[in-house]
Amino acid sequence: MRVGVLTGGGDCPGLNAVIRAIVRKGVQEYGYEFTGFRDGWHGPLKGDTVPLDIPAVRGILPRGGTILGSSRTNPLKAENGVRRVKENLAKYEVDALIAIGGEDTLGVATALSDEYGVPCVGVPKTIDNDLAATDYTFGFDTAVNIATEAIDRLHTTAESHMRVLVVEVMGRHAGWIALHSGLAGGANAILIPEQRFDVDQVCAWVESRFKIRYAPIVVVAEGAMPKDGDMVLKDQSLDSFGHVRLSGVGEWLAKEIERRTGKEARTTVLGHIQRGGTPSAFDRWLATRFGLHAIDAVRDQDWGKMVALRGTDIVRVPLRDATTQLKTVDPRLYTEAGVFFG
Ligand code: F6P
Repeated sequence: MRVGVLTGGGDCPGLNAVIRAIVRKGVQEYGYEFTGFRDGWHGPLKGDTVPLDIPAVRGILPRGGTILGSSRTNPLKAENGVRRVKENLAKYEVDALIAIGGEDTLGVATALSDEYGVPCVGVPKTIDNDLAATDYTFGFDTAVNIATEAIDRLHTTAESHMRVLVVEVMGRHAGWIALHSGLAGGANAILIPEQRFDVDQVCAWVESRFKIRYAPIVVVAEGAMPKDGDMVLKDQSLDSFGHVRLSGVGEWLAKEIERRTGKEARTTVLGHIQRGGTPSAFDRWLATRFGLHAIDAVRDQDWGKMVALRGTDIVRVPLRDATTQLKTVDPRLYTEAGVFFG
């Protein structure tokens, strides 16, 4: 048995831990061989491969990024994409494919598996934590820790200058990173895509914070939207899955706060720092377990499945269920955090 492995979409800490676990268990316990496909779906589409064996995965557990590279290539949109993928799998004698990715990468795995008979197993990853079928995705915990540390640091500088600091965090259309890091970092306002925000209300929270001689920290998710108006974007460019690139709301909000309150306001956009560097212990643990269970799914020939975390168990769910619904923040969780606003 030869198993192909690819990592697609935005990279996130823990990808290498999954790859290592898949290869270690696959070689040691099942005698499988592996082919790494480079840069997500670009690899099978173009026949671009990397050797993948035990020496190749040695020492990669704590390393961020992915030794296989990643991209947002969509083979379903490429000319004869499915045929080319199938031909390359045959050329490299790959019997099964493990796709490690988010909504888009796993959406392709779902179509290949359900509609075109390609034996695929999926592993969920994204710092956004927005995949419905799993309690958590690896990468999220690391991103939250990085954002929390940034908020801690911003508190001290904000207080030295008595100014507002707006922190824009990633998460696409889900507010998980904002909510978790905002709570952990003691933010005075947390704005998430699931609940449109009122700029006057944010200004009132800011003013009340200054009254007690503290400088406010406002955490805003890149996908958060004001009550009146549209999503604030730096530019309108789309990625190859048709998603608009988010970011810009933090800058816009700081200007609005300054204009309406007369208080100095600055913005920090955390951006890709949230995706880089070594994974947290939790993400290493989760990624490793996902890898071990993904190779078991291959052994069982349980195609069209994704491994998922339910409580502390790793279960298998249909890939289709994992990619059809976005997991967004429950309004009750957001209301709970409201006691700290202002
Ligand atoms: O999905 C992960 C993510 O980091 C989002 O939070 C963010 O909107 C997007 O990817 C950024 O994408 P890119 O790496 O293409 O800039």
